[in-house]
Amino acid sequence: MNATTAFDAAALQEAAKRNLWLHFTRHSGFSRADIPMIVRGEGQYVFDQHGKRYLDGLAGLFVSQIGHGRTDVAEAGARQAGELAYFPLWSYAHPRAVELAERLASYSPGDLNRVFFTTSGSEAVESAWKLAKQYFRLTGQPSRYKVLSRYIAYHGTSHGALAITGLPDIKIPFEPLPPGGVRVPNTNFYRAPEFVADDVTAFGLWAADEIERAIVREGPESVAAVYLEPVQNSGGCFPPPPGYFQRVREICDKYGVLMVSDEVICAFGRLGYIFGCERYGYTPDIITFAKGVTSGYSPLGGMMVSDRVMEPYLKDENTFLHGVTFAGHPVSCAVALANLEVFEKEDLLGNVRANEAAFRSTLEKLHDLPIVGDVRGDGYFYGIEMVKDKATRQTFDDDESERLLRGFLSHALFDAGLICRADDRGDPVIQLSPPLTCTQEHFDEIEQILRSVLTEAWSHI
Ligand SMILES: Cc1ncc(COP(=O)(O)O)c(C=O)c1O
Repeated sequence: MNATTAFDAAALQEAAKRNLWLHFTRHSGFSRADIPMIVRGEGQYVFDQHGKRYLDGLAGLFVSQIGHGRTDVAEAGARQAGELAYFPLWSYAHPRAVELAERLASYSPGDLNRVFFTTSGSEAVESAWKLAKQYFRLTGQPSRYKVLSRYIAYHGTSHGALAITGLPDIKIPFEPLPPGGVRVPNTNFYRAPEFVADDVTAFGLWAADEIERAIVREGPESVAAVYLEPVQNSGGCFPPPPGYFQRVREICDKYGVLMVSDEVICAFGRLGYIFGCERYGYTPDIITFAKGVTSGYSPLGGMMVSDRVMEPYLKDENTFLHGVTFAGHPVSCAVALANLEVFEKEDLLGNVRANEAAFRSTLEKLHDLPIVGDVRGDGYFYGIEMVKDKATRQTFDDDESERLLRGFLSHALFDAGLICRADDRGDPVIQLSPPLTCTQEHFDEIEQILRSVLTEAWSHI
């Protein structure tokens, strides 16, 4: 059938337990249970080593926009490996990187015409910080190095990206981190402060103005950049209130701070547009991207940079003193181009725009369950916040959260055939981000599985 069936399932488990180190995973749990082993994918579904099928409600990890098993995209990578498997972008170019850069520039807003490739999202986020710091040195403002980002926002795991990340628990073991990370409020309207809790626009302006207050408090001459996702993932999909990004843009312009739109999740159709900033009508100075640019058929990340920020780097002997071996890998660039062809030929952006309201209203049916406090998001990107008491919005304490998410929900959803994420890095949420090819039948399947598992979860509290 396929190559993996040649493996002995038990031997594979044993080797995985002995030799493989999983990311962000408690290995102790696998002394009693098997490691979930996904061996194959097809469209919106993946299959485990026993042949059981799962709806991929998270697109792997916010990655598989076009779905699994696309041999046309895989073949584009294979062809490129035969023609030129590798050459660096260190003082050389190769055709696929050029073509991809040109294509990405044709999609980006404003004058974000320059593409610096990386291999991952963390590298893109970290590269943007270094780019901003050096930009300010080149333009006579060497004291600007600080970066603002929002509470509970995830921006990656390398030391620099982790310093920008706003999740205290995943930072503590690695302190001290590079200095300069400053936190500002996120846009979780469900948990808005009381004085703006009944007016989403006022809430948004307050949250944006907190960015101004933080810049002033820190000293504008020390602040390099503000990092914001179009829809913040961590915490459970916080869309921007109306006017939020416009106000942030004004603040950045007023204080000469660079605006970085971290679109590692939100770009490439997740919100119905190639770049998420387009959906909300703002033009940042830098966009960071990764994940969906290749739909995971090969790794790639990067940043789109405005002509204005590029300008000092074009002068004299100025050089961005930064690079990584595999950035803009020819195979990944070929795959990204083939991926974007699928977007166009199959009108995936149109599919998201046409179906997102149906996805939302299907998930909103879950509001009749006592545990469902809030359903929020945009495009094909939703978070469902779970609460102990709907009327008061009371959340779960740490023990309850542990029992509910780790003790029950994560396994129960997987056992029921749905891959999604039960996350308690903020208040407990379920995250959904399925392939962009999904339609009503998949939304119904997601809703039905969530309904039965969340109903049972209530009895475990
Ligand atoms: C918004 C955001 N930025 C950065 C990253 C880091 O990307 P990577 O895991 O590719 O390093 C992620 C990963 O999920 C992300 O969601």
